[in-house]
Amino acid sequence: MKDTYIIIKVLMFIFTLLNYSTVHSQEVPKEPLAKLWNIENDEIPKDLSIEKKLSMVDGILKPLLDDDNFGGTFIDVIQNMIFINTLNFTKAQQIKNHTEIRQYTNLLNFTRAPNSTAILNSRFQDINNFAKSYIPKYCMGYINSKINNIIIASCIETSNGISNVAFKNAIRMYYPIFTYYHCFGPSNNEIPSLKSYTEDRILAGDGIRDYYGGICSVGFWARLQPNKSFIATAGHCHAPGSYYLVPWNSTPTALIGRMKNYFLEPIDLGLINIENSDVQPVPSVRNTDSARYKELFIKDIIPVSSNGAHLCLSGVKSHVKCGYVVALNGFISSRRYFRENIFVINLHGLSGDSGGSIFSYKNLMHVSLNGILTGGLNNFYDNINGIIGVITISSILKVVKNLEVVTAP
Ligand SMILES: *[C@@H]1O[C@H](CO)[C@@H](O)[C@H](O)[C@H]1NC(C)=O
Ligand SMILES: *[C@@H]1O[C@H](CO)[C@@H](O)[C@H](O)[C@H]1NC(C)=O
Ligand SMILES: *[C@@H]1O[C@H](CO)[C@@H](O)[C@H](O)[C@H]1NC(C)=O
Ligand SMILES: *[C@@H]1O[C@H](CO)[C@@H](O)[C@H](O)[C@H]1NC(C)=O
Ligand SMILES: *[C@@H]1O[C@H](CO)[C@@H](O)[C@H](O)[C@H]1NC(C)=O
Repeated sequence: MKDTYIIIKVLMFIFTLLNYSTVHSQEVPKEPLAKLWNIENDEIPKDLSIEKKLSMVDGILKPLLDDDNFGGTFIDVIQNMIFINTLNFTKAQQIKNHTEIRQYTNLLNFTRAPNSTAILNSRFQDINNFAKSYIPKYCMGYINSKINNIIIASCIETSNGISNVAFKNAIRMYYPIFTYYHCFGPSNNEIPSLKSYTEDRILAGDGIRDYYGGICSVGFWARLQPNKSFIATAGHCHAPGSYYLVPWNSTPTALIGRMKNYFLEPIDLGLINIENSDVQPVPSVRNTDSARYKELFIKDIIPVSSNGAHLCLSGVKSHVKCGYVVALNGFISSRRYFRENIFVINLHGLSGDSGGSIFSYKNLMHVSLNGILTGGLNNFYDNINGIIGVITISSILKVVKNLEVVTAP
């Protein structure tokens, strides 16, 4: 009897082990948001609702903060807190005492900071205007609320160019923080192993290839009334000739059509005509690496409104990656073009992701489209640090007035 008991115990133990190892071997990959927040997949809904609440309170708070006594806010989902750069703590006490805010004071952290919004905004506006006239190569500028200062980011390799030096000398008097990325490295001759698919649905985040071999990504399905469909991507992806669909990890498949309309300034937007009736755009974001949520339905175009909120990219090279919003108003200048009123996200993008979809999760299945990727800066030799610029849907709709983003029912 005792032996049987021991055997049962051993069996149970083995069973537990087996069970344990099956649990592990079936372990699902982390969703992009779980990676960003360093949490488990099942904690995502909780943290999304924390973020939603913090953004809501941040929205109530910001109009109450004057530009001289405060210096910007940002939310922190992990700490469940809104940080408010504060110059005058007497004023902070009065804010906490506001009827709309009183119930949320446990979410507020007023921290001492030297630079007021008034100073930062006026200096940033001057810097923005200098950037517009000098057009420094590969340069981005924005106010980072977490650092409470103005950041001017560029590539170390192009920092000695004439326009970059002239720009730097002109804005030195505004005391921004200059940061540099090692943007360039040897060209990659490694040929990735690609499969060929037969895919005729076009999702946001898929790749597109132009006639000359240039690769970009799909931003979203756009429509011009009464019933004309386009694939929206970045305008700098423009090339004469037809574009082909390139699914992830695949060689080019179906023909899409030509890009007849494109904009390079002030927005970066290209509209590819759908000339092949065998390809069908879909109002979803590709997230194929996920075990459960391979297609994220685009429900609306509600933009993020807080620094520190998440935004994610879907593109043919990066697939889906998320980062934090560092600024809701910045500029990016490339070789000849200057684009302002962009969102800046802390995220390492890759060449080929241009035009790709930028979105915010509503829940694990539904997203809000925020814009398309125009470009960014990152260190060539690491996979972590980098910033990207987003052409927002609102700036697109300002320029192309009758354009419509097709959303999921
Ligand atoms: C701080 O705020 C209080 C309340 O609004 C105001 O009376 C005071 O003058 C401010 N202090 C400074 C140094 O601006
Ligand atoms: C808070 O508000 C109440 C009235 O709403 C007022 O009596 C009180 O003095 C205020 N406290 C501070 C610190 O401003
Ligand atoms: C505010 O944030 C600082 C820095 O994270 C932290 O040390 C401090 O404890 C926080 N204060 C409150 C009241 O949470
Ligand atoms: C922000 O404050 C710091 C510390 O006082 C100062 O060195 C810096 O120049 C300020 N930044 C701007 C843009 O004025
Ligand atoms: C709009 O175009 C699609 C395909 O391009 C077609 O299936 C649909 O019937 C058209 N709708 C109208 C109202 O013309």
